[in-house]
Amino acid sequence: MLKPIILQQIIDSNDGVLSIAESEDKIPFKIKRIYYIYDFKTSKSKRGFHAHKKLQQVIFAISGFFTLTLDDGKEKTNHLLNNPNKGILIDKKIWHTMENFSDNCIILVIASDTFDESDYIRNYTDFINFIKKP
Ligand code: TYD
Repeated sequence: MLKPIILQQIIDSNDGVLSIAESEDKIPFKIKRIYYIYDFKTSKSKRGFHAHKKLQQVIFAISGFFTLTLDDGKEKTNHLLNNPNKGILIDKKIWHTMENFSDNCIILVIASDTFDESDYIRNYTDFINFIKKP
């Protein structure tokens, strides 16, 4: 279930590091949308609690850290994201949650499609029923 995405780093000594996420290269789909999540008011915030029918996404902590939980309906795994060049693929049909955000956390998400609420499964029982379908 864990599919790490490690981006190249071009390290310019004191002048910073540049990482590259190219469509259909390190990002294993055509990029249609990016969004980012920031300004967490408390480390007790929790997000996600849904799966997608078709959407694929790659998620990064481009600042700070947070914990990502992936659940394929059989197994649940926790992953600390704390490096701007190390992302994780959130495949379709994976229930996911995000929590334990650091103060300075900025989450970047790269998605395979534009926003479509009808692609969301927001109820866990509906998710389990959906993944049972052939
Ligand atoms: P949601 O995907 O549920 O956030 P998270 O998984 O991080 O908790 O999105 C939160 C709200 O924002 C929801 O009402 C849908 C809306 N939204 C858009 O309108 N467009 C988007 O591209 C995204 C990601 C969310």
